[in-house]
Amino acid sequence: MSSLTDQNAWKKLTSHYASIQSKHLREFFDSDNQRGQKFSLDACGIFLDYSKNRITGETIDLLLDLARESKLPERIEAMMTGEKINITEDRAVLHTALRAPRDAEIIVDGENIVPEVHAVLDKMSSFCDSITSGDWTGHTGKPIRNIVNVGIGGSDLGPVMAYEALKHYANRDLTFRFVSNVDGTDFVEATADLNADETLFIIASKTFTTQETMTNAHSAREWLLKNLGADQSAVAKHFVALSTNADEVSKFGIDTDNMFGFWDWVGGRYSMDSAIGLSTMLAIGPDGFREMLAGFREMDEHYRTAPLEKNLPVLLGLLTVWYTDFFGAQTTAVLPYDQYLKRFPAYLQQLTMESNGKSITLSGDHVDYDTSPIYWGEPGTNGQHSFYQLIHQGTHLIPCDFIAFAKSLNPIGDHHDKLTANVFAQGEALAMGKTRQQVLDEGTPEELAPHRVFEGNRPSNTLLIEKLTPAVLGKLVALYEHSVFTQGVIWQVNPFDQWGVELGKVLAKKIVPELQSSDQLQHDSSTNQLIERYRNLK
Ligand code: F6P
Repeated sequence: MSSLTDQNAWKKLTSHYASIQSKHLREFFDSDNQRGQKFSLDACGIFLDYSKNRITGETIDLLLDLARESKLPERIEAMMTGEKINITEDRAVLHTALRAPRDAEIIVDGENIVPEVHAVLDKMSSFCDSITSGDWTGHTGKPIRNIVNVGIGGSDLGPVMAYEALKHYANRDLTFRFVSNVDGTDFVEATADLNADETLFIIASKTFTTQETMTNAHSAREWLLKNLGADQSAVAKHFVALSTNADEVSKFGIDTDNMFGFWDWVGGRYSMDSAIGLSTMLAIGPDGFREMLAGFREMDEHYRTAPLEKNLPVLLGLLTVWYTDFFGAQTTAVLPYDQYLKRFPAYLQQLTMESNGKSITLSGDHVDYDTSPIYWGEPGTNGQHSFYQLIHQGTHLIPCDFIAFAKSLNPIGDHHDKLTANVFAQGEALAMGKTRQQVLDEGTPEELAPHRVFEGNRPSNTLLIEKLTPAVLGKLVALYEHSVFTQGVIWQVNPFDQWGVELGKVLAKKIVPELQSSDQLQHDSSTNQLIERYRNLK
């Protein structure tokens, strides 16, 4: 494949950008009173209005040409049929198999992996039933009331996001805590008010070697044994593991019968619907979890089969490429107007940036274009009283994804209409702005007018969905997973490795003993100085 910037569609997009970059969204809407309808799509129960983007029909046609020239449909097929598209780790990429129906067949290294997927799901379901029924008891015979998920990155962000997102559907008899940071405060605060004899630790780690998780897991074991005054045998009743590494799990002292496995073809940030979702399943029950998986599956099928121009993840992904590479946008804001989705932006940060935060292509060349934007966000309306000022009047172009729901899960008074009015208002204000004439017509003094002008022409997508359910959460996550893949294909990077996290990990391991000794240091003068000062102050 030719380098991205040599592609025909890319070249055409470059000159097309020059012809429309100064056009205002006001002009686009004024010249076509059906623009809203023309640039919206209703699929999988998600209504995407993308008309408030700085695009014309030609932009979309050219972006779709770019997708075809980049062989996006073939790449989707390659991913979903188990080709080893994670070439730097020689692995298939099959998070979509985690939600495949029981009778599906997906072959990896000559074996159909779907029965294994369902065997783990069935084992998770039985385990959840034994916890909620009280059949599973702790070391002193008491039922489990507290679930502490210990993990980090993909072994934490998905579980904690899903727990928060689906709290409305959660079993309130169980208390859930999530410990991720190696900062001891995280563990101490998470467990401070828990009774050890009613607490189950889920040690979630694909590799079972991650420094943060293993440190927290060892502290959890010490905490448990200290509080129960018990011997090692108590561990079996209070610890389960979610991992691909049975050897390390058993070395830690967890019976592999109490291990829920997954596979190297599931990336950490794509694993919330694997065994890593055990805490989610405990919270919403096996049926709720399967409902979530069905939502994922619906989006997978849509991504695989819908024509590119009617394909939600394809459109979202291509729009991100459009702003990143042609408008030079550095960031994308994700703004869910639902308090339950408060951790969704944090979850998306790993999904998007650990996937496409790359600068080397699949053929080993340095890119000569920008790749992943920085994703960030907060739930509405809180963000409005914080950083929206910059989105409206600052110097950066920040494409926004607004996520809104027609029905509240907690309908009280007119809260929900007010919430929804705000999300619609923000999209409108960003796009249309307010002209100097409008400002003056309101009686604003001349000298203040420039401060009160809103340029507008700031793009956004609005996703409007009936209500937040487990299935909808599955669809939303899969939508962004596949949008990320779409972007990665265009940028010709591997979205499924994360070599960029290694160097810091290795250096931290080297520095730990240096903090605990007075040995001679051999870092740069800055790092040496910081270590020495820490040694003196600690
Ligand atoms: O941050 C790097 C990373 O490898 C992530 O990709 C992963 O989700 C996280 O660490 C946790 O890894 P593990 O599940 O193996 O503990």
